[in-house]
Amino acid sequence: MLPAREAEANALKNFIVETITSGKTQSLYISGPPGTGKTAQIRLTLSELIDLDEVYTHPVQCVEIDSKDYKVGYVYINCMSITRTSMIFQEILKSLNPKIASSTSLQDSKDVLLQVLKGQRSGDMNIVVLDELDKLITTNQQILFELFSWCCFPQSKLCLIGISNSLDMIDRLLPRLKINGMNPHTLNFLPYGAEHIEQIIVEKLQLLTPGSKQGTPLFHPAAVKLCAKKCASNSGDLRRAFDIIKNSFELLELELKAKDTPIEQYTLETAPTVKINHIAKVFSRVNVTASSQISSASSNLTIQQKFILAVLVRAESVLTLNELYNQYTTTSANPDFKLLGLLKKHEFLEVLTTLESINLVKVQNTVVKKVSVVKVSAVVGLRDLEGLIGGIPILQRLFGSVV
Ligand SMILES: Nc1ncnc2c1ncn2[C@@H]1O[C@H](COP(=O)(O)OP(=O)(O)OP(=O)(O)O)[C@@H](O)[C@H]1O
Ligand SMILES: [Mg+2]
Repeated sequence: MLPAREAEANALKNFIVETITSGKTQSLYISGPPGTGKTAQIRLTLSELIDLDEVYTHPVQCVEIDSKDYKVGYVYINCMSITRTSMIFQEILKSLNPKIASSTSLQDSKDVLLQVLKGQRSGDMNIVVLDELDKLITTNQQILFELFSWCCFPQSKLCLIGISNSLDMIDRLLPRLKINGMNPHTLNFLPYGAEHIEQIIVEKLQLLTPGSKQGTPLFHPAAVKLCAKKCASNSGDLRRAFDIIKNSFELLELELKAKDTPIEQYTLETAPTVKINHIAKVFSRVNVTASSQISSASSNLTIQQKFILAVLVRAESVLTLNELYNQYTTTSANPDFKLLGLLKKHEFLEVLTTLESINLVKVQNTVVKKVSVVKVSAVVGLRDLEGLIGGIPILQRLFGSVV
């Protein structure tokens, strides 16, 4: 269970277990601002029932609840990966039963999927999680209505869980679903309060010294408190709190290096701790200008995140999600970059979500010739990238000698 999410975890588990054991088709709509643990919690809750590593090869698994076995189908789709909104039906079908060749016609694939959901070729219950559901919004929201309306057919054996943080979605979609007799259960992830953020950071830091009763290693408790307080009053986004923690630790490291203190001499117990002045400094730095915000956020990125961002910046144009993924996979296959490894598509999408949440890329759902297309553009330019990948030779190779 994620710290500080006990109520949400219980509600989620009860909903899923009740749906499986009763066989009653129903839907759940999860909303909440970015970085409040929606994706993390749903994956954690489902991992208690389903082997998520096996799900790509075994989408229908046997789940034991109260000594009874149930056949449960599971599909997780990040809707950002859907190039055309209407393809969601094919995607669900393909994930749920890879042996069924999905039709290219929208009506056919809807019909086949509905048959699969009602029939023997899927689970006694099929859990379909649609993350970033707002990416499926079309002008008339027809696709979303259709999906949710399937949960009104008692025979369809569908447990539909939609996740979104778009406020617009809550205002527009939910009332319309309700007016039309579709009554999804709802679960709201509220932004973390200061005490929650503090608890989460403390628990993460304590993992560094398991079994120790000495409080938090590397950070003075007041520093953690200040970070939690400032982040809670800002957005409640945990990713930001993690960024601040990491940056302030780096600041301490720099200070020690400037004094020529060999860091290796310290242990986790004896190391100097990050104090409130470090946290305050990082916050003031982050708040100075938008561009310093970019560099502060960027400095925390993993090499894969930087790599994907760099591939996008190098393209110097707006790309569709698939174009970007193709460029990423082709570039990764180049012997120069093979060392970096290749992310699976869902991991790639998680990276994009992170880059979007810290405002480094923009992901937009646009409609071109009545077809919805997800487009990705970089918010940062080549210049911003210089500082970001300047010290990493393998990434510099992407730009030849430019950066
Ligand atoms: N209660 C928690 N305890 C520990 N870590 C958490 C907790 N909640 C979230 N996290 C971590 O914070 C980060 C952001 O969480 P997550 O991706 O689940 O947010 P989200 O609500 O899905 O955001 P978005 O709306 O942007 O998709 C992840 O690294 C996640 O593991
Ligand atoms: Mg998420």
